[in-house]
Amino acid sequence: MIRVKIAPSILAADHADLKGDIRKVEEAGADMIHVDVADGHFAPNISMGPDTVRSVRKVTRLPLDVHLMISEPEKFVDAFLTAGSDILTVHAEVVNSQQVIRLSRLFREKGRKLGIAVKPSSPIPSWLEPQLDSIDLFLVLAVNPGFPGQRFMPEVLTKVESMAKHARENGLEIEVDGGVDQENAATIVSAGATTLVAGASIFRRNDVKSALLEMREAAQRVVEGVRT
Ligand code: DX5
Ligand code: ZN
Repeated sequence: MIRVKIAPSILAADHADLKGDIRKVEEAGADMIHVDVADGHFAPNISMGPDTVRSVRKVTRLPLDVHLMISEPEKFVDAFLTAGSDILTVHAEVVNSQQVIRLSRLFREKGRKLGIAVKPSSPIPSWLEPQLDSIDLFLVLAVNPGFPGQRFMPEVLTKVESMAKHARENGLEIEVDGGVDQENAATIVSAGATTLVAGASIFRRNDVKSALLEMREAAQRVVEGVRT
């Protein structure tokens, strides 16, 4: 049976107790840890860097899904790979297809996964489809980059739907990130998402574990075809 992946975003966690918060989502069955890197330029916030990834790497065995919301990703990919990123996602708005080819070669050599992300206002780039073999994940951002706790923009679901056949046929991961919660998870999975990123709706709830379990239930109900 298909399992929808859930990737809690530690941008919304307690940064003085990342280890404790990560432990809670691990125990509740999280599939990956999502790390948001904002540079104060591409995104109007400054968050975490390679040192945080290196520290987080030591406290969990879960794959680290690192989302680079930065203007010059090529300058920093080595540092983030060395720090222990399993999946590293760069934004389509700041790379061209030549750079994606280079990154893909480097990532394949190192056995890591490459993701391409798009902001809510950005279309799917025309170079993406011919290069789908080079990437592992397509991230559809459903809020403006930078901050947790924003409202989900449902209009991004058309991008998810148009990529869904690649998820079915070629195993491309389709990750939806921003404003995902226990209420809209089912709609997002129905549109074709294979991974849900969730920050505030997990880490800013009193009971982090049941927040994750509720999201898991909502998502799995869709893939198992059970109606409520
Ligand atoms: C947006 C980030 C998201 C976000 C997720 O800048 O890429 O990962 O923090 O947090 P929520 O789920 O609270 O929108
Ligand atoms: Zn993110």
